[in-house]
This record gives sequence, structure tokens and C-alpha cells, in this order.
Amino acid sequence: MDKIAIVGGERLVGEIRISGAKNSAIKLMAASLLTDEPVRLTNMPRLADTRFLGRLLGRLGTEVVETDGPNGGQTILTTPEILSTIAPYDLVRQMRASFNVLGPLLARAGQAKVSLPGGCAIGARPVDLHLQALEALGARIELNEGYVYAQAPRGLRGARIEFPFVSVGATEHALLAAVLARGETVLTGAAREPEIVDLALCLTAMGARIEGAGSATIRIVGVERLSGATHAVAPDRIETGTYALAAAMAGGEVRLTNTRADIIESLLVKMEEAGVEVDRGADGLTVRRNGGRLKAVEVTTDPYPGFATDLQAQFMALMTLADGESVVRETIFENRFMHAPELARLGADIVVNGGEARVRGVANLEAAPVMATDLRASVGLVIAALAARGETVVDRVYHLDRGFERLEEKLSACGARVRRISDAGEEA
Ligand code: UD1
Repeated sequence: MDKIAIVGGERLVGEIRISGAKNSAIKLMAASLLTDEPVRLTNMPRLADTRFLGRLLGRLGTEVVETDGPNGGQTILTTPEILSTIAPYDLVRQMRASFNVLGPLLARAGQAKVSLPGGCAIGARPVDLHLQALEALGARIELNEGYVYAQAPRGLRGARIEFPFVSVGATEHALLAAVLARGETVLTGAAREPEIVDLALCLTAMGARIEGAGSATIRIVGVERLSGATHAVAPDRIETGTYALAAAMAGGEVRLTNTRADIIESLLVKMEEAGVEVDRGADGLTVRRNGGRLKAVEVTTDPYPGFATDLQAQFMALMTLADGESVVRETIFENRFMHAPELARLGADIVVNGGEARVRGVANLEAAPVMATDLRASVGLVIAALAARGETVVDRVYHLDRGFERLEEKLSACGARVRRISDAGEEA
């Protein structure tokens, strides 16, 4: 298993090009199942998760062609016909978002058998809201031996679906199915994340009729068929926020390009409160910190436009060196503080109590071997290591590879001392 070694203490100075959003890309790839024409996605990140979903789509009948240009990758997905409607356990288990093929399969082929994703490191993560939405659209759903059997032999029909709380995945799933349903669907209590807007934009380019994406109420009028389209994947807000926090942690000045400041506004406000300088520009932002200790500030995770749970670990890393005590509250996932004991190995002072972590800033962090536990937690450890004295080795970086494209390269280009130690022990 690969490791990443980071020698802390270098300031970061330079420019980082932000990739297309992982969490958009995988839903857009699933959307390509809805048409027999080619869907061309540009600004595609090349990640373990997108490669993985490509393999699953290949089994379902999609031809996946990847090319790389100077401005990111391009993937063309064409599914002339659905060859299989089964997403087996061994594939869904490895990446939860594979579950999102259920809706498109059902909408296009009238049936699907998709494995339940099961739990994951950050909590139980049920899919009840996904299934309720599909049932409301007229699907017959049965659960048997860990599989969802879904059927809609005479097609799906529009419905009113009220989400009792915000779920990004369930909102996306309802959208993916409702675009081909007969009649009108109204989603209330919908997620407002930029990834929902991105999915709606792509579906609209494919001929879907959608209004209100990005607000809590989304209206969809089903169409008979969708066509191909070309769509540029939206910038990754989590990657944007992560490098903004890396610059704040290490000190220096980093310009983030090919992204937008507004998609991480709730983070930027907190960073400024803590004493980091931020310039919001037309095609990105610049983050600057020159000397001076940061102030402890409190954050509470919330659905968008609130503070993203996917930036919580990275923000906690920043707070480990701030002056005073910060309280970090996690309201989205029940078990999302696994980075806290790992940060403590670097000398951080963190006390976790239920959904709340108290972080008392220390003067210095010291390098230590640490272990990545999930995607966002692992990049939190990388951020802490950028400011720790000595060489920190982060184990199990396959978690990082799922969601961060060329992380070592992007950080090294700004002066960080980061290297990958591959399986065999040699450095790559
Ligand atoms: C997506 C993101 C993930 C991010 C999360 C919250 C992808 C691939 N992943 O995950 O990175 O951390 O949004 O911003 O896009 N829930 C239920 N029943 C359901 C669905 C969800 O109880 O049927 C619960 C979850 O357990 C969680 C909460 O609702 O506590 C929010 O989850 P949700 O917004 O659905 O997250 P994901 O779409 O899985």
C-alpha cells in the first residue's frame, strides 16, 4: 500500500489548477446511461473513483473512451443499449456512488438489480431516501440478500417527493430517474449543492426539463428520450477548499485557478475570521498568510451553502495550531472524527465528545507515522503534516487517490516537500 511522506515547514508559493469535481463527475457518468447517444464530459478528473465507475459502466454496456488534453481529461460515454441491469456487490462495495446507477437503469431499462452499498468508515449511510424517491416515482422495490430489485415495467411516472432532511445522493438519484418519468415531478427539501446544479445542467443539455436546481424545490417535467451532450464538469469545491487550507496551514501565497470562490464561501469566511487573507477573483482565488498565529474559530458542518462536512477534517487540522480553543461540530455524519486521534499523534490537543470536537491550539506539531482512514480525513493529515516538524508518513493513501488528482505534484509545485513511497518501497 502506498504511503506519502511530507517534510513540514516549507511555505507554499505558487499556483494550483483545480480539477473537475469528483462528486459531480461520478453522477454525470451515471447520467450517461440515460441515453443511447454519446455524452462527452470535459474537465474530467482522473481518479480511482472515476476509473472504477468506468469499469462498472463498461459491464452495463457503456463504451468509455478517455483522452487527455492540456485542460484536463475528456471522457466520452456511449451506451447504445443496456447489456446488463445488474450492479454486483463486489463493485458497489468498493464505491458507494456506484449505487447511483440504479435510477438511470430503472428509467431506461425498466428494471435493475443493484447491491446495497453497506456501511462505510464514516457511518451507517443508509439509502432509504433513495429508495423512497424511486418508489414514489412508481418503481416496485424489493430487498433481498443485500440487493435492491427494482422494477418499473411500464415506466416511471412523475410524483411529489418531500425529503425529510437534505440528502445529496437521494436528490441526485431522484433527478436521474425523474427526467425520463411521465409527467411532472416536484422535489421539496432538495439538496442545493453545486453538484446538483452541475448534474441538472448536464441533464438539461441532454434535453431534460428541470427548473430550480440549486434551490430546495426542483421541478422536473419528464421527457420521452434524452440525447447526447457535451458538458464541462464543475470545479471541485472540496479540492479548492483543501488547497486553500493547505496554504493557510503552511503559510505563503497560493493562487487557485480553474475554480470559483463562491462555492466555498462558508469556508472562506471562517478562514478570514481566523486571520487568513483571501482575494476572490474572476477565475479563482488567492490565499495568503504571512507569519502571525491564527485565531481559533468555531465551525458547524451543514448542508450547502453551510460549511461542508468534506472540509471538516482539513479545517480541524488548521485549528490544531491556532491560538485558543476551537469547537468543530459535525452534523452530517455520525462517525466523522477518525482523524482526531491521528492528529493527536502529531501533538494536537483534541477532545471528542459525540458530534463535537474541542481543539486547543498547540505551539507546534511534531512529525509521526499516521494512518489515513477515509478520503477527507487523510487529506486533513496531509495538511497537518505540512506544518509539522520533521517527516510525517501517511499510510493507506489509496483513500487519497480516490478523490485527489496528482496531489503530490500539485503541492510540490508550490514548494512542499512531498513524496510518494510506493508498495515496493521505492520512491515514485
Ligand atoms: C455526498 C458526497 C459526500 C458528502 C455528502 C454530504 C458524493 C459521492 N458524496 O454523499 O462526499 O460528504 O454528500 O455533503 O457525492 N442519509 C440517510 N438516508 C439516505 C441518504 C442519506 O439517512 O437515503 C443520511 C446519511 O447517512 C447522512 C446524511 O443523510 O447522514 C447526508 O447524506 P447525503 O447527503 O446523502 O450524502 P451522500 O450523497 O452519501
